[in-house]
Amino acid sequence: MIIFEKVNKKFPDGTTALTNLSFEIGDGEFVFLVGPSGAGKTSILRLIIRELSPTSGQITVDEHALTKISGSKITQLRRKIGVVFQDLKLLADRSVFENVALSLWVLGKTKKEVDEQVAEKLALVGLSAKSDFFPAQLSGGELQRVAIARALAGDPKYLLADEPTGNVDDANAWKIVKILDKINKSGITVVMATHNTEIVDTLNKRVLRLEDGHIISDKKGKYH
Ligand SMILES: Nc1ncnc2c1ncn2[C@@H]1O[C@H](COP(=O)(O)OP(=O)(O)OP(=O)(O)O)[C@@H](O)[C@H]1O
Ligand SMILES: [Mg+2]
Repeated sequence: MIIFEKVNKKFPDGTTALTNLSFEIGDGEFVFLVGPSGAGKTSILRLIIRELSPTSGQITVDEHALTKISGSKITQLRRKIGVVFQDLKLLADRSVFENVALSLWVLGKTKKEVDEQVAEKLALVGLSAKSDFFPAQLSGGELQRVAIARALAGDPKYLLADEPTGNVDDANAWKIVKILDKINKSGITVVMATHNTEIVDTLNKRVLRLEDGHIISDKKGKYH
């Protein structure tokens, strides 16, 4: 469970990103974060993985109180959370397989475990045939799906996706969202920041709508 209690985030340059934000995301939910550019969507995701700290207020992810959390616990926290960043952060000189496998190698998994996990995640995103390709050989939609497979390696409890449909055409956007829906139905809590009104309106999930660092609505259903 993710809990924000009266969270404020002001950056050192004086920009206020979030104001007095309180909400909860329960286990197994699928939540869209929507709102205009600069509303604070990415800031919320960065706070959840403790890449940012709030200026005031409390954030809790399961047993972790993020304002008090120490180094080794941050590692534990991040193992629970798969992230698909807006800029993907794939390694250009590593194959699709290696990009997905990397975090598993770091965890000290055996070759057999890594091979099985990577094969399973690539199958889930429909990229089994591209395992040996390099990022430069893939389309934008395929790159997004590699990033999703990588985020799922290690079987996280949460998946955070920052505009995963931002740079792809409609057909690929739908493909990606269907994969995220399937992932959610397997029990993983999904939080997706998006500008895509059509997808939000069609999926009929919970929509947390932000404007200028405030939550202006929180309800199931449509974008607006
Ligand atoms: N490192 C930073 N330093 C200063 N201001 C920042 C920083 N990161 C974000 N901001 C500001 O915080 C506010 C919220 O930014 P954020 O990236 O969370 O918006 P967003 O909703 O994700 O926007 P977009 O839809 O364009 O991705 C904006 O005013 C932004 O300029
Ligand atoms: Mg953003």
